[in-house]
Amino acid sequence: MKKFNDATPGQAVYTKRMLGIYDFLVLGISNQWIWKCPTSHLLEFYNRQISSNHLDVGVGTGYFLDHCVFSNTDPRVALMDLNLNSLASAAARIERYKPETYRANVLEAIDIDAAAFESIGVNYLLHCLPGSMAEKAVCFDHLSPCLAAGGKLFGSTILSGGVKRNWAAKRLMAFYNKKGIFGNEEDELKGLHEALEERFVEVKIKVIGCVVLFCGSKK
Ligand SMILES: C[S@@+](CC[C@H](N)C(=O)[O-])C[C@H]1O[C@@H](n2cnc3c(N)ncnc32)[C@H](O)[C@@H]1O
Repeated sequence: MKKFNDATPGQAVYTKRMLGIYDFLVLGISNQWIWKCPTSHLLEFYNRQISSNHLDVGVGTGYFLDHCVFSNTDPRVALMDLNLNSLASAAARIERYKPETYRANVLEAIDIDAAAFESIGVNYLLHCLPGSMAEKAVCFDHLSPCLAAGGKLFGSTILSGGVKRNWAAKRLMAFYNKKGIFGNEEDELKGLHEALEERFVEVKIKVIGCVVLFCGSKK
């Protein structure tokens, strides 16, 4: 059985208890009042990007998969996360779609036995990963074999640079970075845009508050 380095706080924080308050705390309070990107914008983005053959990576509680609208009633939905609590929580929430589940660390090569997906979602994953944007962008290379030709990768992440941050956003981000829950001290808009342009075509980005929403298609 594959051994994972799961000591990273960016995923270890997702205990059952934390997942129990995540939707209220992050999607309800922080998005609206601190990051200034209300969750409704992220859900709208999901609805525009998601396909009926979808892999979601860094799944948390599965809120977006539960609330988004698929173009058919019997979508193929797969979940990937390093944290088993997140996988179990999201899988239970969207049981109606009979999701496939994969445990993987996106910072390592991903080796799963699965047909390629037409869309991959990486919502609020990048800011949990440690390192510079160039270092964490390897996750796009690791996920690329899972994406079908012409398939779309999309997501959003909270940035430190190239966006407007209010006092509360600066304080909370500094606190989360100190704890290792976030690893986005060096994350800025330009670096992310470059990392996406290097790997994808038809790259689009949109900033709302200190969150960037992005998508690109496989070359
Ligand atoms: C902030 S939550 C995002 C949840 C959800 N996508 C959302 O937008 O509400 C980040 C998720 O990424 C997972 N994660 C963090 N580091 C990871 C890694 N290196 N590989 C795979 N998953 C990781 C965490 O376990 C957690 O479930």
